[in-house]
Amino acid sequence: MTIYLDHAATTPLRPEALEAMLPLLTEDFGNPSSPHAYGRRARMALDEAHEVVAACLSAQPREIVFTSGGTEASNLAIKGAAWAGRAEGHRIVTSAVEHDATLHAVGHLAKFGFEVVELPVDRYGRVDPDELAAAIDERTILVSIQMANNEVGTVQPLAELIAGVRRVAGRRVLFHVDAVQAAPYLAIDTQALDADLISLGAHKFEGPKGSGVLWIRHGTALMAQTHGGGQERYRRAGTENVAGAVGLATALRLTCEERADTVKRLRRLRDRLRDAVSAVPGVEPTGHPRQRLPGHLSVIVRDADGPGIVVALDLEGIAASAGAACTTGSPEASHVLAAMGYPDEEARGALRFSLGRTTTEDEITRAVEVIPPILARLRVGSVALAADPLGQEVGV
Ligand SMILES: Cc1ncc(COP(=O)(O)O)c(C=O)c1O
Repeated sequence: MTIYLDHAATTPLRPEALEAMLPLLTEDFGNPSSPHAYGRRARMALDEAHEVVAACLSAQPREIVFTSGGTEASNLAIKGAAWAGRAEGHRIVTSAVEHDATLHAVGHLAKFGFEVVELPVDRYGRVDPDELAAAIDERTILVSIQMANNEVGTVQPLAELIAGVRRVAGRRVLFHVDAVQAAPYLAIDTQALDADLISLGAHKFEGPKGSGVLWIRHGTALMAQTHGGGQERYRRAGTENVAGAVGLATALRLTCEERADTVKRLRRLRDRLRDAVSAVPGVEPTGHPRQRLPGHLSVIVRDADGPGIVVALDLEGIAASAGAACTTGSPEASHVLAAMGYPDEEARGALRFSLGRTTTEDEITRAVEVIPPILARLRVGSVALAADPLGQEVGV
């Protein structure tokens, strides 16, 4: 059985979520907008899903909008806030290490006259609160910064970032947080965090793919991006994915209940793996050493090719990633590592191991035996090949 160490890409659907979803895919298949018994049962399930998600976020049920995933949630947040705020300004501030769901959404808005500022990050991938505050001017209507990075696991100093914006802005500049990677591991308390919009994606916390949430602080002006029926309080038209919403709500509730234990266990397992992997000569951890997601280990293997290593690991029964799953196969080096100051030839050797709630002690015991020799072998092989491209007298 392959050991799955790619939970940042996606996670397995947890059995409790599947069980909660099944009736809504079978006998309780009604449309929540229908007034008859079938519709009412679907409506009840959907309303309850709003309540459960709201409770996990210390929010109100009406502040929850179900979407088709993290990407749609961030697109709705960013485009919806930008167009709703257009009369007040046109400047949007984000960072160079955001997920493409954010960067491509703001890139799209730039074609319509919005001014987009991409803030740089430090060597660990963190945005400086003073730099963010300095980027806010009277035309700024929106800031979008992630809670944690998918490629290098770095957690942003969000409370300071938001406080800085609130201090310098003369009016409320909307603050969107992409919490897609963070949600399985970091508490998200909308009372404590002075944000306006938060994106989540169910498949990162053992919910179903194709299901996400945008939390919208009550009173926030947002322009809908899909038009049709009045679903989700006119913020997202279209017959609701009731089973998806219920699966998300179930998985999120359990994630919140178990989070403290999961985090403690994963941190210990990740540290074991990190110590073994970083003992290989030429392997260097990336991202912040402490302010990082608990099950996340990202490294650069010098003089080696990340995608090649992923194939070699797969042959030995380890599923890992060379970076973000959605950009794998793209010939371009990671924009995240580039922003952190890694030259292309170093970024080429990027590798990510991401543990999840279902990762076991035995799996990590096996992983620490299997992974280091593979990294060492591939590294030495590529150094020798580079020194002797014709393959003569390689001797390794
Ligand atoms: C930080 C971050 N934001 C957004 C997304 C997109 O979420 P989804 O896959 O649910 O569309 C991802 C997915 O990898 C992510 O890691």
